[in-house]
This record gives sequence, structure tokens and C-alpha cells, in this order.
Amino acid sequence: MRASSLSVCQAAARTRANSSRMSYAADAVRSAFPSLAVADDGAPRIYLDNPAGTQVPQRVADAAARALIESNANLGGFFRTSIAAETVIERARVAMGDLLGAASPREIVVGPSMTALTFRIARALARTWQPGDEIVVTRMDHDGNVAPWLTVAQERGLVVRVLPFDTSSWQLEPDALAALLTDRTRLVALNYASNLTGSINDVAALVARAKAAGALTYVDAVQFTPHGFVDVEKLGCDFLACSSYKFFGPHLGIVWGREALLDTLHPDKVRPSTEELPWRFELGTPQIELFAALEASVDHLAWIGELHGEHGARRERLRRGFAASVAHEAELAQRLIDGLREIDGVRIVGIADPNRVAQRVPTVSFVHERVAPDPIAQALARENIFVWSGHNYALEIVRQLGIDEATGVVRIGAAHYTIPAEIDATVAAVRRALA
Ligand SMILES: Cc1ncc(COP(=O)(O)O)c(C=O)c1O
Repeated sequence: MRASSLSVCQAAARTRANSSRMSYAADAVRSAFPSLAVADDGAPRIYLDNPAGTQVPQRVADAAARALIESNANLGGFFRTSIAAETVIERARVAMGDLLGAASPREIVVGPSMTALTFRIARALARTWQPGDEIVVTRMDHDGNVAPWLTVAQERGLVVRVLPFDTSSWQLEPDALAALLTDRTRLVALNYASNLTGSINDVAALVARAKAAGALTYVDAVQFTPHGFVDVEKLGCDFLACSSYKFFGPHLGIVWGREALLDTLHPDKVRPSTEELPWRFELGTPQIELFAALEASVDHLAWIGELHGEHGARRERLRRGFAASVAHEAELAQRLIDGLREIDGVRIVGIADPNRVAQRVPTVSFVHERVAPDPIAQALARENIFVWSGHNYALEIVRQLGIDEATGVVRIGAAHYTIPAEIDATVAAVRRALA
């Protein structure tokens, strides 16, 4: 028995080794997304607006449609559609638990957006704090993880400390965080990856510093989740937020919270609704069709793992899928950065060093010494290349860098369905726009 289980392990290890040498299955990945085949007057679309929202695979659209047709009822009834709708919700929580490494589906709170959920959780947490208590926010975060904390700070008389990012590493530095912590720090709100610079923080190290000071941590993983394997237990954080429309799913926000902690919080709710977790945090009738799509988006990510040779438990397929897509995206990011840097007057706002490509997601922002971001994004839009310009709600980043808030940066963001030819076409279009 021992010998046979060993040989199974060896076979699995061999499969993993073979699959890690496998090239990225870009064609198969792309074929899952019908919108990639849409053309406008013969011009293909190049979707590089992914940091603001990704396209969805057919299975995600199908899951929403199926739920609307087969399980379209409110919850709590004795009849078939109501029972089916509850199953849809439960399955989505289990899937999200697999994606984030949660200990239980009771830790998965779902709402209309990360921003809405963060305001809600901030308000529930702040009820437990006293005037003079302290919180830390960062200059690297999207405003969705800044404004909610500033709002409750004002309401409750909290002291706000602001952590800048290091302009040479483009990351939050654990020592700089430690210098801001006191015995009155109640919470540190930080991000996993920036939606403007693309840099990834060493969240485990930052969380460890906060924890040592007795502070809770709220991690905005909205930009990281489409581009990396999340493990909330390894990070050691207390809350982690993401948005499924950034990882090929429906327009929902999701917050994972440690169960014991969630249980101490009492958000606003209507009287008849349950106190049970995580329902206590969710207002009104859930968006059942979007929950169905949410499960499908996690299954899509797991399917990327299957394409690359992993057929085990969903969490293992997710791990393998991310290993494959992260390597592919790193190549795209570097190709984009290298191409842009060859254009006169372009300055990358973020990590550009190829040796540090693993410390960034493939979201690349730049400014030009003469031409403002909007006209560049408009020129690209005329070529059916979709990118964003502006501060992208990363207000604190542009302020720290002294970039004009009114103009911001051009932001080009790849996803796992992006291919090198699209990057090359985009670099060529930027060059034309600046000529
Ligand atoms: C890093 C980051 N945090 C938060 C948000 C807000 O997410 P939502 O639209 O789900 O509120 C975004 C959206 O772009 C983001 O990029």
C-alpha cells in the first residue's frame, strides 16, 4: 500500500514537472472568451482595460443565464427554485473559499462591489473603536481602501496615519509601516497589488508587523486576485477584499474575513434577516444569477490549471492555473515595458527592471514628457485598443508622485487571455500616437 501511494505521488510530481515545462495554452484560453472574437467594422478589439474589468468566458455568461431560468426565486421557500437558489449561493461561497484559501464558506461575504463592502465593514469595525484610536492607510491604495477608513475616522474621532510607498522599490516597506504603529493602532488598510503602478507588496511581512503591534489588517486584493494565487492563511491577514469582475466573473465584490472576527461585528441590517455568518453582512435579496456566475469564474480559473496538466482538487487546479498564467503575464508585462521604454519621452510609472518582473502584475502605467494621457488613450481607442487614462482612483499615488491628478497616466493592463501580438500592436499604436 505504501509503495503504491508513493508511486502515485511520484507520478503526480512528474505530471507537475511536465506541465510546468508545458507552454502556455493561450489559444485554448482565448477560445473560452466569445468577446475576444468580436470585431468592429473588421477591426479586432484589443482589450487592455483589464485592470478596470475583464472579459468573461462563455461559462460565466451561461451560468448567469441558467440561474435566471432554472433557479430564479427568493431564498427560504419550500419549493424547488428557492432551494436551488440557496444551492447556487452556497456553491459560490465554497468556490470563493477555494480561490482564496478560506477555512470555511462562512468567511465569504459577497456584495455589490469591493467599495460598498469596505464601507460596510469599516463602519462595523469602527463601532468597536474609541476616539483617539489610530488607523493606518497607504498612499499606494485605490480610494476604495482609503476613503471608507477616512470616513469612519472622521465619524469616530480616530487618528489617521498615512504610509507612503517607497519610490525606488515601488512597494510599501515593512519598516516604514512599523514606524507608524503604536499600541493604539487598530487597523492597517493596505493593498496587495497597485491598480496604477502594478507593484505587488510583501503582504505577509507587512501583516506580521501590524499583528505584532496588535492591529488588524484589511488587504485590498482586487488587482492581485486575477494575477496570482491568494492564500489568506499564509498572508495572516484578517480581511481580504476582491472583485470578481476583475477575474473574469460578474460584477460583485467579495470580502473574506476571519470567522471569529466577523462574528464580533454587527453591521446595519433589517430585523428579520438572520444573524448567521456571512448573511449578517449581506443586505437584501442576493444577486443569485451573479453568484452562479461567480462560481463559474472560479471554475474557469481552475480550468486553466486543467489545461496545464492538473486534475486534482479545485484549489490545486487553481494553483497550477495561476502558475501558468503568471509566467505568461510576466512575459507580456516585460514585453510591454521594453517596447514602451524604447519610445522617446515615455516614463514607466512603476517597476521596469526585468529582474523584478515577479514583483508586479501586468498593469503598466506611463506618462509622456509632452503628450497628456487622454489624447494617447483616445488615439488608441480609434484603433480599437482599449486602455485607461487618468488617476484610476489611485489618487494617493499620483499625489505622492506629483503627477497632475487631472491628467494622470496611461494605464495598459494585460490579462491571461492577452497575447504578445496584441502587446506589439499596442506599442506600435502608442508610437504612432506620439509621433
Ligand atoms: C485596487 C482596487 N481596489 C478597489 C477597487 C474598487 O473595486 P469595486 O469596483 O469592486 O468597488 C478597484 C477597482 O478598480 C481597484 O482596482
